[in-house]
Amino acid sequence: MKFFNILLLPLVFLSPTFRICNHQASALPLSTDGRWIINEDGRRVKLACVNWPGHVDTMVIEGLNKQPVDAITAKISSLGFNCVRLTYAIYMLTNETSNNITVRESLHSNGLNESVAAISVHNPEIIDLLLIDAFKAVVDSLSRNNVMVILDNHISKPEWCCGREDGNGFFGDLYFNPDEWIKGLTEMATKFNGVTNVIGMSLRNELRGPRENTIDWFKYMQRGAEAVHEANKNVIVIMSGLNFDTDLTFLINQTVNLSFKGKHAFEVHWYSFSNPGEWNSGNPNQVCRRIAGNVMRKAGFLLGQGFPLFMSEFGIDQRGVNIEDNRYFPCVLSVLAKLDMDWALWTLQGSYYTRQGQIGTDETYSVLSYDWVSVRNQTFLTVLSSLQSPLRGPGIEEVTRYKMIYHPLTGKCVLIANVGNPVTLGPCNKTEAWFYNEVELALMKGSLTFCIEAYGDGQAAKLGIICGGPSSKWTMISSSMMQLSSQLVTSGNNTLCLDVGSDGRTLVTNQCLCLDGSPKCDPESQWFKLVTSTRKTISMNS
Ligand SMILES: *[C@@H]1O[C@H](CO)[C@@H](O)[C@H](O)[C@H]1NC(C)=O
Ligand SMILES: *[C@@H]1O[C@H](CO)[C@@H](O)[C@H](O)[C@H]1NC(C)=O
Ligand SMILES: *[C@@H]1O[C@H](CO)[C@@H](O)[C@H](O)[C@H]1NC(C)=O
Ligand SMILES: *[C@@H]1O[C@H](CO)[C@@H](O)[C@H](O)[C@H]1NC(C)=O
Ligand SMILES: *[C@@H]1O[C@H](CO)[C@@H](O)[C@H](O)[C@H]1NC(C)=O
Ligand SMILES: *[C@@H]1O[C@H](CO)[C@@H](O)[C@H](O)[C@H]1NC(C)=O
Ligand SMILES: *[C@@H]1O[C@H](CO)[C@@H](O)[C@H](O)[C@H]1NC(C)=O
Ligand SMILES: *[C@@H]1O[C@H](CO)[C@@H](O)[C@H](O)[C@H]1NC(C)=O
Repeated sequence: MKFFNILLLPLVFLSPTFRICNHQASALPLSTDGRWIINEDGRRVKLACVNWPGHVDTMVIEGLNKQPVDAITAKISSLGFNCVRLTYAIYMLTNETSNNITVRESLHSNGLNESVAAISVHNPEIIDLLLIDAFKAVVDSLSRNNVMVILDNHISKPEWCCGREDGNGFFGDLYFNPDEWIKGLTEMATKFNGVTNVIGMSLRNELRGPRENTIDWFKYMQRGAEAVHEANKNVIVIMSGLNFDTDLTFLINQTVNLSFKGKHAFEVHWYSFSNPGEWNSGNPNQVCRRIAGNVMRKAGFLLGQGFPLFMSEFGIDQRGVNIEDNRYFPCVLSVLAKLDMDWALWTLQGSYYTRQGQIGTDETYSVLSYDWVSVRNQTFLTVLSSLQSPLRGPGIEEVTRYKMIYHPLTGKCVLIANVGNPVTLGPCNKTEAWFYNEVELALMKGSLTFCIEAYGDGQAAKLGIICGGPSSKWTMISSSMMQLSSQLVTSGNNTLCLDVGSDGRTLVTNQCLCLDGSPKCDPESQWFKLVTSTRKTISMNS
């Protein structure tokens, strides 16, 4: 038996207090180094954010009627998010009425007397602040909990966003006056200059609609970026693409021309409804490959050009009832993990003061429950937590490159077992260094000759030491290339694929699912992604 001993782990000493974490860097502000976002010490900071809106009708950050602001921001931090994408409307700065009214007045004028009463109880120090000062109070509360902030201009006229023809979609639309926009951005940048936890400003959410064109995109986005940078040298300026921020292909042939460097990134959005009907009507392996490929062609290529690309919106209905969301989500996770991208989940808010004319609307995409006290779906958050720590980048070259065998459906990774015992899933921060030996087609562990072996249909996969035989050969198959098929010869015609057993953690081999292209099957439990990492994990401590 032969193998390639390409992975030699250095011996490292770890103190008992060692934790893998992705703190807000104490060394703010942040800047960019190629595709990575780094702190003042040059170390990568991975943005693991959640969206929190303040752009809807009232222009009051949502949820202040449900919980004290410090309780909400402490919760955000305790859930492992290091950052919030905080949205606002330009009118909060520029409109002669909106820029001089208090939270109380804004809620009253929207007929929300109950919210006035509730905010007076939960956040009495905020109810009589001007809107911008209430916004600032939320930013300060996030700072007290070490949460970074990206100020996101979501819209001009405050309302639920985003419609193709809502008058807020592109420069020159009914409510989207470019000069007013520049004025608003400048005021925001100025107001938050010196507020350390504000590390970025996204210029405008989801450009869209009949007016959109690339000539105006370059003209105004460059103007907006220069205006923000002029007013505030600390923030990273973030630019959205066209077509609801799904399309940045125009940057393949033309680059943004800015007077400054190291403070500039792009953002992209990806939902199941970005491709209406496709996840439901197609074979999930094929749909994942096609749509992930499109996302790479339309936006992901920017990473290769050396720009950070922030996936600033993605998310699902957390009740688990939307089949399209359920198929889309592990596909997105596989991409986010593989590229180790910066991201912001849509969304935090369990409810709205008012949305689209309805008072007290529930938000099924939210991390928090309707009352903002607990988590809506702990399973979902556990899966998502697998993406919160950085895997590689400047300062994270802690060990030689290795692979995590990532299981996006559960957000877990393949752990080691004793020889002869079943291999299991566990937290990715405990992963061992795996590598895929292309010659042997073996999934091998570290510098030793351990490999994963198949035993038969429905049987546990175990850690073996006889690598190289058919039982330890694995091929990446199906359109998704995420199914690991064993070459073990079995009775009948069935190909066996690595899967998760009924206990939710033991790896087994089952018949490969969905290889025939049928749309009526779900192979996601058989999806495994080999993800490159150079971070030291808690099992590599001796
Ligand atoms: C590892 O991850 C798990 C969940 O993903 C988390 O509960 C735990 O605190 C993490 N451990 C360390 C040492 O970071
Ligand atoms: C200011 O906002 C109010 C309320 O939305 C609106 O009626 C008015 O037209 C706005 N003014 C300008 C100049 O946009
Ligand atoms: C803002 O409102 C206050 C109190 O209602 C008023 O005295 C002041 O003149 C207003 N300022 C502007 C610029 O409208
Ligand atoms: C809401 O409160 C305002 C100010 O206190 C009051 O004038 C108005 O009548 C109230 N509206 C309703 C529907 O209770
Ligand atoms: C980029 O330029 C090439 C060659 O001029 C052209 O074929 C291609 O269509 C352009 N792509 C975009 C997205 O503009
Ligand atoms: C980039 O912008 C600078 C300053 O505005 C200008 O002088 C230069 O000609 C621009 N370059 C290109 C390639 O447009
Ligand atoms: C939580 O999400 C999981 C996975 O999407 C789903 O299966 C489950 O039904 C959800 N639970 C609740 C309580 O909504
Ligand atoms: C194996 O596949 C062939 C061709 O698809 C089929 O004719 C045969 O019946 C299958 N054998 C078994 C045992 O399923």
